[in-house]
Amino acid sequence: MKNHPFTHLLPAALGCAAAVLLAGHAHAATPANFSIHTASLALNFSVGKDGRLYQLPIGAPPPETPTARDAEVYPQAGDGYIWEPALQVVHADGNTSTDLVCDDLTRTNEAPGREVIRVHLHDPAYPFEVTICFRAHHDTDVLEQWVEIQHQEAGEITLLNMKSTSLLLSTNVYLTHFFGDWAKEMLRPITEQITPGTKVLDTKLGVRAEQFQSPSFILSLNGRATETTGEVLGGSLAWSGNSACEFDNHAEGVRALCGLNAFASAYHLKPGQTFTTPTMIWVWSDHGLGDMSRKLHAWARDFGVRDGHRPRAALLNNWEATGFDFDFNRIASLFGPAKQIGTELFLLDDGWFGNKYPRTNDAAGLGDWQPNHQRLPDGLTPLAAEAVKQGLRFGIWLEPEMVNPKSELFEQHPDWVIRQPKRELELQRHQLVLDLTRPAVQDFEWQTIHDVLSVPNVTYAKWDCNRYLTQPGSAYLPADRQSELWIDYVQALYRLMDRTATTFPDTELMLCSGGGGRADYGALRYFHEFWPSDNTDPVTRVAMQWDYSYFFPPLTLASHVTHWGNRPMHFACTVAMSARFGMDLDLPHLPATDQAVCAGAIAAYKQIRDVTLPGDLYRLEDPHDQYRGAINFVAPDQARAVVFVFQLQDGPQTAVRPQGLAPAKRYTLHELNPAPGRPAIPQEGHTLTGEELMRDGVIPSCSRAIEASAIELRAEQ
Ligand code: DGJ
Repeated sequence: MKNHPFTHLLPAALGCAAAVLLAGHAHAATPANFSIHTASLALNFSVGKDGRLYQLPIGAPPPETPTARDAEVYPQAGDGYIWEPALQVVHADGNTSTDLVCDDLTRTNEAPGREVIRVHLHDPAYPFEVTICFRAHHDTDVLEQWVEIQHQEAGEITLLNMKSTSLLLSTNVYLTHFFGDWAKEMLRPITEQITPGTKVLDTKLGVRAEQFQSPSFILSLNGRATETTGEVLGGSLAWSGNSACEFDNHAEGVRALCGLNAFASAYHLKPGQTFTTPTMIWVWSDHGLGDMSRKLHAWARDFGVRDGHRPRAALLNNWEATGFDFDFNRIASLFGPAKQIGTELFLLDDGWFGNKYPRTNDAAGLGDWQPNHQRLPDGLTPLAAEAVKQGLRFGIWLEPEMVNPKSELFEQHPDWVIRQPKRELELQRHQLVLDLTRPAVQDFEWQTIHDVLSVPNVTYAKWDCNRYLTQPGSAYLPADRQSELWIDYVQALYRLMDRTATTFPDTELMLCSGGGGRADYGALRYFHEFWPSDNTDPVTRVAMQWDYSYFFPPLTLASHVTHWGNRPMHFACTVAMSARFGMDLDLPHLPATDQAVCAGAIAAYKQIRDVTLPGDLYRLEDPHDQYRGAINFVAPDQARAVVFVFQLQDGPQTAVRPQGLAPAKRYTLHELNPAPGRPAIPQEGHTLTGEELMRDGVIPSCSRAIEASAIELRAEQ
């Protein structure tokens, strides 16, 4: 998209204040304009004669400076704005209206290509201020946006609605969103035109909030986008609690109001306190969905996840292999085969703790984080040491926020759980959520995390969360503060996660929530990766990982080989190789042929992870309702690439055309870990230019259902 030719573009650090000064008083006669730029996106704003701040809708033809209230930035309820507001406040004196006029604007260069813009507004009738903040990442076209609210009124004010963003777009907008459920997360993208009215994507589950509705979506302007064409704005709310993304199509365009869900969430703000909304992450492309994702992935590796440039280990997890049924010897018996087959890290899952109420199933023991004396008589230390002795790193599963009623913790602290008085306790997976707003619970959870991660040789942890909130009551919060539980919980959770990441900087963390119930950049900034779904059927994962990849780089997607779906081992391994490779297999009991396939896949993963994890992802053939799916990765220097083809049904063995190669480079083709008993790719060992490969394609070795090919392209030096 071209930058719109504003004639009054103000220099940095002037902005609305300059407008106000030039015009002489707060309600300036001459509107002034300013823009926020990234490489190919410009957000254009102007201050109206009424002193209010307006935005030119993205995708609208060059201005006409907008001044209709419909186009107001961050519209406020109660004094004239008739559509869905971004801000709704009850002032200390009971007034339910807010008016914001623009004061000034500051621009700060945080680093080359990274600018923070803060636009200050205030209500002339109250000592009430709002700062709309942007962090513009020039090269990746990513805009982070959040809002800060503060006041000096005579008493508390009540925030009823305070969105993170309320961007305006032109009217012809298509929305792609993702609805799912346990084992079906992100599976079904739905694309629909935003017709007049309001479309709402929201969640009210408190924790594990994204089980059904993802807070990530795509808006395409002026028609549906493809992987290579179209103006698209990807959005992802960095918040792990109740969220609402509302798309309000009214007279002036489509307004995207995203942020905290206003549902039952009145929040009180004392004079002098600042309320900071969650951050909304926007990414823009005028070259379609592929370019959008690659830019968001680049941002995520730098800012969205921890250690985004560090290679990820090949992992063995015991959950699918043993479930709750294990002891020291059973787990230790997995280490030798794990090392032999090539894995680098072992993750001990649920079931290692609880004594009065042993955690031998999911009905008991949660909250009692002492190693079970019968299973692990000497605790975790010797098990972790044994893993390291056999050449593996060691990781551990935790679910610090939860408790089974059948636990010593619940017996001692029945008032520590989130519940409603006078209502029968509602359990999910036999468990309850601990009330993290209570300082004693914060201390307990921190102590639990601290003690477990301090066990010598523990360098990885999986943080699980297996239920959501259905009875949002806190025995700790006062009666008139119950509505703050939703927000306070998540803020306390982030403090806990932050403390964990800061105290254990070398411990890698997987974010899990009974599958993908917490796939968001709010929590991910403290984590290295997330568990996309308990559904590890590789056929399902082809489409699921495709959908997640719109927003999350493959290095964050834990993809484990299991027996789910009883698919051929070669297919399962190839799917896992295309993200962060792991296995949940009972290795000692795996047939030798499957072991060989797994060993080959792990060796191949190690060979290509310096391409797939930092590289650019190109989605080539969409697996939804097609006979196959295909993607390719290109290393940052374009010297290597990997093409993956996943055949879901029988179909023609036609060429797959990779993208992103250097046209003049000459690449030699090599099939990675070819399937036993199947001829390798017809072009094995051939050398072709990038131009030829992108034009004529690569012929995969697969042609039948549930076969896969991974082909490395290596440029001549
Ligand atoms: C749910 C997770 O998604 C699984 O991977 C496993 O860790 C279980 N919880 C353990 O209870």
